[in-house]
Amino acid sequence: MKICVLPGDGIGPEIMAQAVRVLNALDLQFEMEEALVGGCAVDATGNPLPEATLQLARAADAILLGAVGGPKWDSHPRNQRPELGLLGIRKELALFANLRPAILYPELANASTLKPEIVAGLDILIVRELTGDIYFGQPRGIELREVNGESQRVGWNTMIYAEYEIRRILRVAFEAAMKRGKRLCSVDKMNVLETTQLWRDIAIEVSKEFPEVELTHMLVDNAAMQLVRNPKQFDVMVTGNMFGDILSDEASMLTGSIGMLPSASLNADNKGMYEPSHGSAPDIAGKDLANPLATILSAAMMLRYTFNQEAAAQRIERAVKKVLAQGYRTGDIYEPGTKRVGTREMGDAVLAAL
Ligand code: NAD
Ligand code: IPM
Ligand code: MN
Repeated sequence: MKICVLPGDGIGPEIMAQAVRVLNALDLQFEMEEALVGGCAVDATGNPLPEATLQLARAADAILLGAVGGPKWDSHPRNQRPELGLLGIRKELALFANLRPAILYPELANASTLKPEIVAGLDILIVRELTGDIYFGQPRGIELREVNGESQRVGWNTMIYAEYEIRRILRVAFEAAMKRGKRLCSVDKMNVLETTQLWRDIAIEVSKEFPEVELTHMLVDNAAMQLVRNPKQFDVMVTGNMFGDILSDEASMLTGSIGMLPSASLNADNKGMYEPSHGSAPDIAGKDLANPLATILSAAMMLRYTFNQEAAAQRIERAVKKVLAQGYRTGDIYEPGTKRVGTREMGDAVLAAL
């Protein structure tokens, strides 16, 4: 079981250290190799995705990533931005299926900013397309153009999906729904955007292969509202890259904190990159404040999806549940009456619970 470990920037190395400790505490043989991606790779090599990192990622069975980015690199030219490292791995390895499960651990019902009764028992899965859409569409750019008789800067991107890209992500979502509550909500903006009209048409076509799954459609603006009005109406949601990015951050708050939301990004062979849904949190980086649980839970997803080690995955998930029940809380999920701990202490608690 070869794992390419990419800690990245900001809180990335701090949360990754805890996930690696947890993996090493299992009775499993991993080969882990670390490499640079993101801002740290830009600093060392000028390239957010050095060739050596890409090779290691290709050679590994799975990739575990912390987070990339930070204000230090925000003014760099676009080809030297940390985020390009992450997007490059997703694209190069064809990791088109991003699974982001938003589950509320009962102990965190009060950590959510929503009323406990709205989120109690929440268990939804967001399936986000990850290698297409406006993120990768060409043409794109910023240039000077003649507008209203004067030269102005114009910025543009292309929102584009080919039929095969929509079909394959919908199949992943239908298959996930088959293993869960058999309800799938496809989110689009077909009232305005042609590319998402195609999305809806194909969703209806693919649904014929899954007659047991109840397919519904929702416009993205309404979906954003419904997620906070009544999130438990959803079982599986499927959507494009851009809408999925936004809706999954929104869904993370239903679970108490974005520091709790893991993710898996899979290709057609279930090779995957596993990473928390959150970013490098520059505001708390280097202070031992970050919540490592999303990364630890991402490692559990890795054991489940790439390595078929369901028992080990559940062992980690039970340990996380236990530390929450014991009252351990990083600042993002802290409430009076619980034990406030730092990143490393949270890792200690998970190890003890294992
Ligand atoms: P962010 O997710 O990094 O942070 C948003 C807020 O959530 C911050 O207040 C942060 O402190 C908090 N937060 C995030 N993770 C946390 C954790 N584990 N524990 C406790 N609090 C946590 O989003 P942002 O501020 O918009 O972006 C910062 C940088 O991260 C940007 O450069 C962005 O491009 C990058 N980013 C990277 C990834 C990734 O690598 N997968 C994802 C999102 C954003
Ligand atoms: C995420 C992040 C990335 C995205 C950025 C850092 C490129 O926000 O993984 O959700 O937009 O996909
Ligand atoms: Mn995001």
